Amino acid sequence: MAVELAKRMARLGTETAFEVLARAKALEAQGKSVIHLEIGEPDFDTPSNIVDAGVEALRSGATHYGPSAGLPQAREAFAQWFSRDRGVEVGPEQIVITPGAKPILYYVITALVNEGEEVLYPNPGFPIYESVIDFVGAKAVPLPLREERDFRLDHDELRSLVGPKTKLIILNSPQNPTGGILTREDLEVVAEVAQANDAWVLADEIYSKIIYEAQHHTILGIDGMAERTVVLDGHSKTYAMTGWRLGFGVMPAGLAPAIAQLMTNTNSCTASFTQLAGMEALLGDQSGAEAMVQEFRVRRDLVVDALNEIDGVHCTRPGGAFYVFPNVSELSISARDLATRLLDDYGVAVLAGTAFGEHGDGFIRLSYANSQDNLREGVARIQRCVEEL
Ligand SMILES: Cc1ncc(COP(=O)(O)O)c(C=O)c1O
Repeated sequence: MAVELAKRMARLGTETAFEVLARAKALEAQGKSVIHLEIGEPDFDTPSNIVDAGVEALRSGATHYGPSAGLPQAREAFAQWFSRDRGVEVGPEQIVITPGAKPILYYVITALVNEGEEVLYPNPGFPIYESVIDFVGAKAVPLPLREERDFRLDHDELRSLVGPKTKLIILNSPQNPTGGILTREDLEVVAEVAQANDAWVLADEIYSKIIYEAQHHTILGIDGMAERTVVLDGHSKTYAMTGWRLGFGVMPAGLAPAIAQLMTNTNSCTASFTQLAGMEALLGDQSGAEAMVQEFRVRRDLVVDALNEIDGVHCTRPGGAFYVFPNVSELSISARDLATRLLDDYGVAVLAGTAFGEHGDGFIRLSYANSQDNLREGVARIQRCVEEL
């Protein structure tokens, strides 16, 4: 019998990265060599002090259900860390802990946005934003990010797109897929616009610790924003903990019970031993995380410099995250066809910019969460492909 899905499933999008990874693995299974520049996860292992804390937690019995919003000691520790790190005082009642940071996106949009209301989201941007906005029956309004502004939002454009139906504005800095950084001034404009239109802000700060020259600012620290802001953060990227599944939201205390109720209805709770390991990650030795950022910075420069040597390709030097977003629009082939050809004929897995929305057209995304040798080889293959177009 053909499976007839509920109509809402037609509105749900996906993350192309997982599809490209599956195709790349299939090619590898046939014996082909593939350089993986498609995956958005650190290639490092979780630092050993965190692994030890997780093992210790398992051995001491942290294998049971816990409260849906998170273990009290973990909520307390995450709040303390966040207050110190961002310079904004928050309490444990404002923290909801989730399996990875992604559920925070899903829960916050589900809890706050009614059908027909509008949500502004960065485009190009993490594809799950648009997917979930569509899924709940809201209207997804793209906020274009352009190369000439180093992929920061345009203030006038933001003002022109916000209106009485705007319920939520999604921000992401440092940004996936461009590595762009929002300045304090950008955040002040968003804060002013959000307050004037009585809109919420969801600030995706999952890459806040993977930042190079610039300083990370949170919109939560701007006057009047605490009551209308949710910050999404988590351990996946900073502590190379993608497979542990650990993230959290920082939100007004009045919203937290609704988000916890969504947790009760879906996951029940985040794994208890994972939360305890996550406390060690935030409060323990930071040298593993710091060494990763230093290495990412070296790789960023290596990849940007090598890409800019290729005729017809130019690449801005991103300020954070571990992605570069080179412009390939001068080439005689679309970015989408280039990505396909790179994988099929040259063994380099990258994503077309359109995997991040229509404003990503003309670009490709490379993740530099790979060894320097593999990055050199990957860019050399891209150069060969471009020369043979
Ligand atoms: C911008 C952004 N937000 C959220 C997430 C989700 O992270 P997690 O793996 O913790 O769910 C990702 C992961 O790729 C991301 O790039």
